[in-house]
Amino acid sequence: MNENPYSAAVLAWYEANARDLPWRRADTTPWGVLVSEVMLQQTPVARVLPAWEAWMRRWPTPADLAAEPAGEAVRMWNRLGYPRRALNLHACARAIVERHGGRVPDSHADLLALPGVGAYTSAAVAGFAFGQRHAILDTNVRRVLARVETGVEYPPKTPTRSEARLAESLLPPEPAVAARWGVAVMELGALVCTARSPKCAECPVIDGCAWVLAGRPAHDGPPRRG
Ligand code: ADE
Repeated sequence: MNENPYSAAVLAWYEANARDLPWRRADTTPWGVLVSEVMLQQTPVARVLPAWEAWMRRWPTPADLAAEPAGEAVRMWNRLGYPRRALNLHACARAIVERHGGRVPDSHADLLALPGVGAYTSAAVAGFAFGQRHAILDTNVRRVLARVETGVEYPPKTPTRSEARLAESLLPPEPAVAARWGVAVMELGALVCTARSPKCAECPVIDGCAWVLAGRPAHDGPPRRG
């Protein structure tokens, strides 16, 4: 494993600049983390915030949601878009009750087996809710790594093996630090290393950024959102 040359700077930046989001607080449950990650898959934070609060007030545990018809989940989903995710969360709640006694499982494989939970979401829940060491590769992280490590403005359209290997090689060895590193890089991508008009002057790793060192070359090809 390579030594990660940025982890201290990125973690310090995160401590000073992270948004105070309710699913990141110490008193959040694994269920709260799972609900947030499913909502955040395709919806921006600002719209997820009130929906997450309302959802968690109504169904603070998987058993509370599992006891209701799936239509109630879709109704609560409201205008978050892609309502299949509400059905998936409802099916998740029932699977958690049936297979895991009502507790969100902590193993990556068990999480991955839940309806609508893919590689990113299972790694995020295992990391953020249970402090485990898993590489996190969402859109924001992929963009940060593309710039800092590969020197290009945007990552490939779909995730590649080499991105997975790179993310793995940068994971700090200590599980709790690795979990924090994951959310810190995600936040760096969301707030500083943004898809358009990145705020490089505010970046804690500007000195080691391959894209900045190369003179911030423009992306070769059609514009990318990610
Ligand atoms: N914090 C934890 N997971 C997150 C996500 N997917 N998007 C934004 N902030 C998060």
